[in-house]
Amino acid sequence: MTALDVALGGRAYPIHIGAGVLDQAGATVAAISRRAVIISNASVSAHWLAPVRSSLTAANVDHDVLLIPDGEAHKNWATLQDVLTRFIELRAERSTVVVALGGGVAQVDSSVGGKTGINHPLGKNMIGAFHQPRAVLIDTNCLGTLPDRELSAGLAEVIKYGAIRDAQFFAWLEGNIDALLAREPQALLYAIRGSCRIKADIVAADERESGERALLNFGHTFGHAIETASGYGSWLHGEAVAAGMILAARLSERVRGLAASDRVRLETLTARARLPIAPPSLPVRRWRELIARDKKVEGGAVRFILLPSLGRAIVTSEVREEDLEAVLA
Ligand SMILES: NC(=O)c1ccc[n+]([C@@H]2O[C@H](COP(=O)([O-])OP(=O)(O)OC[C@H]3O[C@@H](n4cnc5c(N)ncnc54)[C@H](O)[C@@H]3O)[C@@H](O)[C@H]2O)c1
Ligand SMILES: [Zn+2]
Repeated sequence: MTALDVALGGRAYPIHIGAGVLDQAGATVAAISRRAVIISNASVSAHWLAPVRSSLTAANVDHDVLLIPDGEAHKNWATLQDVLTRFIELRAERSTVVVALGGGVAQVDSSVGGKTGINHPLGKNMIGAFHQPRAVLIDTNCLGTLPDRELSAGLAEVIKYGAIRDAQFFAWLEGNIDALLAREPQALLYAIRGSCRIKADIVAADERESGERALLNFGHTFGHAIETASGYGSWLHGEAVAAGMILAARLSERVRGLAASDRVRLETLTARARLPIAPPSLPVRRWRELIARDKKVEGGAVRFILLPSLGRAIVTSEVREEDLEAVLA
């Protein structure tokens, strides 16, 4: 087992990573409260609810279980409203701990950093708040029941960390992508730890995304456009991010001098992770409309995350219309 800290002063919290750490759920919650509500979905709970419940029971934590429908299409206002209704019906209190059980990408990305949000028909993740968890348990055993396609989707975010921040980690991924797809425990542990370390450092430096945190959105401006255009759920988030990263790399090659060989390395690794490297075909006009609605727009200008080289990313709004259109076309 290994632990990382997200250094956020009074809101700092630990991330425990390892095989079997789910067993610590009870002790972790008991240190905060005697009462909890577990939120999960039918697919995840079928495999992992029982051990979490036993752990809570063993630690004398009184708990209820609330199942929500599975999938991106349900990450919306109606589901949130149902959750709130159930909390009120269950007489949840301020001190009640919410245990969020689930998530594939969640292990390497959404588990860290406290961004919570729902989708709006006009845009992905449009409504939300920053709210840091008290603790994160990443149990690598849980990946054993994750469908292959979801595992690959998670790897898109892992590749992203190497591309934006750590050329050595990227090279390690090139050497170990097959081991990751084969779910070799040591490789998974290394990739998860490396990803969470990078994310935790970036979040600690810029919790509210006033600067550096925006780098984590590499591939996401295009990726969110793909998700919105194709209807939530047909492209998995990680798949849309994968194709989005390749578009961002093409734009980087055009306007920030990314070497063609580095762009090819990103494409090759992404394809080897069994992820799409080409976006769906959309008219340029539709792309422009979707991109203009992105949350990273500031003062009317879209901010792009570009790679001058593998392992280093920058944020810029200085991209000429003709360069963007050339890449999208
Ligand atoms: N908050 C953030 O900072 C942040 C960062 C990245 C992504 N996200 C969001 O995360 C979402 C994607 O996350 P995700 O890919 O984890 O989606 P998900 O939670 O929907 O999980 C993907 C699928 O795998 C199943 N699954 C998950 N864990 C499983 C397991 N252990 N065994 C069997 N099945 C399992 C789920 O039921 C689901 O069908 C997107 O909505 C994205 O916007 C948020
Ligand atoms: Zn993402």
